[in-house]
Amino acid sequence: MQIDVASRLQHTEEYYFAKKLREIDELNKSGLRVINLGIGSPDLPPHPEVIQVLTEQASLPNTHAYQNYKGAPALRQAMADWYYRYYGVNLNPEKEILPLIGSKEGIVHICMTYLQEGDDVLIPNPGYPAYAAAVRLSGATSIPYELTSENNWLPDLKALAAKDLSKVKLMWINYPHMPTGASATKAFYTELVAFAKEHTILLCHDNPYSFILNDQPTSILATEGAKEVAIELNSLSKSSNMAGWRVGMLMGDEQRINEVMRFKSNMDSGMFLPLQLAAAKALSLDASWYASLNETYLKRRLKVFELMDLLQCSYRKDQVGLFVWAAIPSKYNDGYALSDEILTHARVFITPGGIFGSAGINYIRISLCATEMVFEEAIARIKASL
Ligand SMILES: Cc1ncc(COP(=O)(O)O)c(C=O)c1O
Repeated sequence: MQIDVASRLQHTEEYYFAKKLREIDELNKSGLRVINLGIGSPDLPPHPEVIQVLTEQASLPNTHAYQNYKGAPALRQAMADWYYRYYGVNLNPEKEILPLIGSKEGIVHICMTYLQEGDDVLIPNPGYPAYAAAVRLSGATSIPYELTSENNWLPDLKALAAKDLSKVKLMWINYPHMPTGASATKAFYTELVAFAKEHTILLCHDNPYSFILNDQPTSILATEGAKEVAIELNSLSKSSNMAGWRVGMLMGDEQRINEVMRFKSNMDSGMFLPLQLAAAKALSLDASWYASLNETYLKRRLKVFELMDLLQCSYRKDQVGLFVWAAIPSKYNDGYALSDEILTHARVFITPGGIFGSAGINYIRISLCATEMVFEEAIARIKASL
């Protein structure tokens, strides 16, 4: 039976990684044992005290009911404390924070809250594919803004201001930037906030990578006047090794939080309380937690640099975040060609940069979410295949 999907889905394909993981699964089933260096899903466990809170709370008889739509007060307080301690941002835990089931759902909620047909949205190229997908679901139109290595992967605000921005309602930004590993400075955020005020654009900053190989976690909300025009998403997926737990958060002015709640409260019915309390524990850990994570990632990144050298790719050593982003050598047509060749001949999956937008076409991205031993095996397989 043919049942047409709604028109909002007609140009929305299955998420690239969902498809690719199935393909890799098939190869694995046929005995090929693919090394997957694609997805940024931390392989290390959360802190043991976090697991302890989860298990203790889950074994109590009275922690299993529906929860408050706005999240447990203890979690919102822990989020506020975390933002103050690491980002220097003061937030009212009752009014300016909304816990989320991962920041990816927040991207959809924000787009569904503010956008409709006729609206334009600025999205980064290259950038996280979920922005364009969520904009499409909302009926609005994505206007990609190109990032280049020459401009340190920051948007050229002067060039943007020269365009007709009258239909632009919202702009997605993300620093530390995925996939390029670029950072933004405080001065850039000041310029960006002024730009958004001038053009009446809601800035949506997606900030899940600021603790990974990055000495200075920065929030756009620390910028003078930012709450007037900006909201920020953050996540425990990467920095607390809790990707599968699905805990994220939205921060912003009370009015923005209430607006997004109008949509979100119609979608889900809160989060499991033991999980929220364990997440609060994760946020209360001191800086030595991040330092120990980064010690591991630093060693892994050296292996990835070695792998990139073997592939004759060029990359910046000062990039931050959970990946290494590198330009491919000219012998390949594009990053897809390199990725396909390495998957076919070495059974190693590397993400082609083109999935993040046309400006990423001549790049590849490797995730740091594999052990040094796995990287060594990938290097050995690639050496043998070249
Ligand atoms: C830039 C960016 N934003 C958001 C997410 C989603 O994070 P979460 O697990 O909190 O939904 C990812 C995950 O890969 C990401 O790379």
